[in-house]
Amino acid sequence: MTMEAAVYPDLEGGSVCVTGAARGLGLAMAEAFVRAGCHVLLLDIDGAELDRVLPVLAARRRDRVIRTATAPVSDEDAVTEALTGFTARTGELSVMVANAGVSANAPSLGLGLDRWNTALDVNLTGVFVCARAAARVMREGDGGVILTTSSMYGVTAGPERAAYCATKAAVAALTKVLAVEWAPHGIRVNALAPGYVETDLLAGLSAAGRLDTEALRRRTPRGRLGSPQDIAHLALFLSSAVSSNITGQVMVSDGGWTADGYAVTPG
Ligand SMILES: NC(=O)c1ccc[n+]([C@@H]2O[C@H](COP(=O)([O-])OP(=O)(O)OC[C@H]3O[C@@H](n4cnc5c(N)ncnc54)[C@H](O)[C@@H]3O)[C@@H](O)[C@H]2O)c1
Repeated sequence: MTMEAAVYPDLEGGSVCVTGAARGLGLAMAEAFVRAGCHVLLLDIDGAELDRVLPVLAARRRDRVIRTATAPVSDEDAVTEALTGFTARTGELSVMVANAGVSANAPSLGLGLDRWNTALDVNLTGVFVCARAAARVMREGDGGVILTTSSMYGVTAGPERAAYCATKAAVAALTKVLAVEWAPHGIRVNALAPGYVETDLLAGLSAAGRLDTEALRRRTPRGRLGSPQDIAHLALFLSSAVSSNITGQVMVSDGGWTADGYAVTPG
């Protein structure tokens, strides 16, 4: 079965911020929101890559406000300023996708505290800062949707992923807290939890011999890795009113990886 883009008419005209949007899953989600007819702010620390992708996205919908902001997600003043500038043009913020994240894979005995602290700063503090900055805008309006990005490695564990698993599990817990706390403001908060997704990052690791994608496929009950579109479709669904009773959930999209307790070592 081929996958056609799901259409959610209620998203049309909404205003969306996606962090970590210069590439990978963030860019795929930003593109999906543009296609759905939203105004989109792409936030990332990589200004050069944002400059490269902006004209491509803007050309898709000339009638929408498509903007970029170069800022680190844990810088509360910079994130707030970027959102303020964007909403001054769009009038509201409907969706925040706090997606930016970094991996810090290394044997735990040798994991430098600089890498540990960077993972905490981006993966956890960055998500909290962006979610809170968004909620401050949303509670002044009609509420909204916040999507955090956890991982299947926030639900299960893998060796040499201490900082990554710890921060992604913390994002899952944070998501539930914020969902409960902000429900009275009409704000829903859910976490995206992808399994291995075929992004440039994964292709690079595979090409460098640091990851065996064929072994990962064999380990996955569905027999394939995820695609950026799998996650983009999930983000649209969770942003639409069709999922209006879903909040505080960690939505795993991993082809059955975490469900499989019988999994043997890939080989
Ligand atoms: N790709 C996967 O297989 C996979 C699986 C599970 C979860 N995830 C999660 O999904 C999210 C996106 O992953 P991806 O594969 O697209 O990653 P990626 O490395 O391709 O892209 C991440 C983007 O975040 C940006 N970024 C990094 N630090 C930042 C900061 N401090 N402030 C602002 N932007 C920053 C980078 O410049 C980059 O553009 C991450 O949170 C990741 O942990 C990815």
